[in-house]
Amino acid sequence: MELIICKDYEEMSRKAASLAADSVRQNPRALLSFPGGDTPLGMVHAFADLVNAGEVDISKARYVSLDEWVGLSDTDEGSCGLFNRTELLGRLQKPFLDAHIIDGAAKDIEAERKALDAYIARYGPLDVSVLGIGMNGHLGFNEDGVDFGLHAHIIPLSDVTKKVMTKYFGEKCHPEYGISQGIAQIMAAKKVVLIANGAHKADILAQAVRGEVTNRVPASVLQNHPNCFVVADEAAAAKL
Ligand code: PGA
Repeated sequence: MELIICKDYEEMSRKAASLAADSVRQNPRALLSFPGGDTPLGMVHAFADLVNAGEVDISKARYVSLDEWVGLSDTDEGSCGLFNRTELLGRLQKPFLDAHIIDGAAKDIEAERKALDAYIARYGPLDVSVLGIGMNGHLGFNEDGVDFGLHAHIIPLSDVTKKVMTKYFGEKCHPEYGISQGIAQIMAAKKVVLIANGAHKADILAQAVRGEVTNRVPASVLQNHPNCFVVADEAAAAKL
């Protein structure tokens, strides 16, 4: 793991965006995956800025979303799909060749899971997977206890994730399951960029980076990835 400590959220966001852009410069037909949520907001904006400034050409590259709350579509507030459409895809003046956004509200969620696997099998492996880390160490919705051998899967949300999600949904909505790329797909990515900011992430980030590799802390698996960058602000990196 290569550790990159940034002075603040903005620097973390710019650095992660630049690492993702490098992957497209190396392979114009790259397949990219970014997470949704608070952590990656600045990173996806910074990535769109690079595209819009003509500093990276994504016209032959593809995008696939990392995860989604089961039951939510890309028009639902708080969904990863809506985040992808408004904060990333909708900002791009020149779009990706193609984007596959998981529909968590699909009537046939098993078909949606298979479609995610099929998309990554066809256009992958991922050239770059940008990831956040959950308060329980999850990556996407690879919750604590997950099988590291899984590809796309549907998984019950942990109690920690359910608690954290109230910041996205309030009391409006209570998803019980997530649909997510699996650790096998993340570990097959040519580059992984784990981003974290804020003092509340310091303990779990230290466990992931310095602790034992265990599915109790899914992000710890990245210690075994040959090309993983951990990009953290000073507050999140405080216990490393
Ligand atoms: P956050 O979530 O951006 O809401 O901190 C990170 C994650 O769960 O991956």
